[in-house]
Amino acid sequence: MTTHLRPNHLRLGVNIDHVATIRNARGGLHPCPLRAADVAAAAGADGITIHLREDRRHITDADLIRLSGAISLPINLEMAATDEMLAIALAHKPHAACIVPERRAERTTEGGLDAAGQHNTLQPIVARLQDAGIRVSLFIAPDARQLEAAARLGVPVVELHTGPYAHAETPDEIERELARLTRAAETGVALGLEMHAGHGLTYDNVLPVAALPQLAELNIGHFLIGEAVFVGLDAAIRRMRGLMDEARQDSGA
Ligand code: PXP
Repeated sequence: MTTHLRPNHLRLGVNIDHVATIRNARGGLHPCPLRAADVAAAAGADGITIHLREDRRHITDADLIRLSGAISLPINLEMAATDEMLAIALAHKPHAACIVPERRAERTTEGGLDAAGQHNTLQPIVARLQDAGIRVSLFIAPDARQLEAAARLGVPVVELHTGPYAHAETPDEIERELARLTRAAETGVALGLEMHAGHGLTYDNVLPVAALPQLAELNIGHFLIGEAVFVGLDAAIRRMRGLMDEARQDSGA
């Protein structure tokens, strides 16, 4: 998802992990992540995000293979920084790979990847992915230290963890977390990073994040798949897409 056909366009990556969660609850093939990816494309998604977890709790290796061969949208593979996941990414060459923490020791207190503390572990993995032409991003807390570490690692993209913002309860907390995201988005752009954001975004909290002009992409999953139970996946994605566009228009971004 590198192209900016519309300068103001905020890309939407739809995370379809939880389509696989529902399928896996019964085994079998339904609901099919491939079909979800096709619906997402028709509804205005710009990319498909999947997280192949080490325990394969939702998306499986077979899903990755099927999606890689069949869908029109670019795939953003979320992956732990492990040899196993590196080998899988190199074999399937998704458009993008977002390195996420899966174990406690890989995380910052806010839950993002500890890019600063894990520099030596991450560096060879980032290099191998980039050598294979995969666009690498790091999922990090909105924190200057982590942004600087990401820039030192030479990644072109970071994804800001919006979880603390999404889970904030009081107006003060929400304002504080939004201010952190705003500062981080500005700092990231100043460091030459393309800025993405995601986690916990819903119809109710997406507008202020989507209005941040530095952001190029949001990745949204759980809420959309949950909402699809009530209104269908196509309608859920279209409404999110509409809110993101509205935020951009209103902010003049
Ligand atoms: N971005 C990253 C890096 C993620 O790991 C996830 C899933 O936790 C998301 C975005 C999407 O988050 P959610 O499913 O809460 O929308």
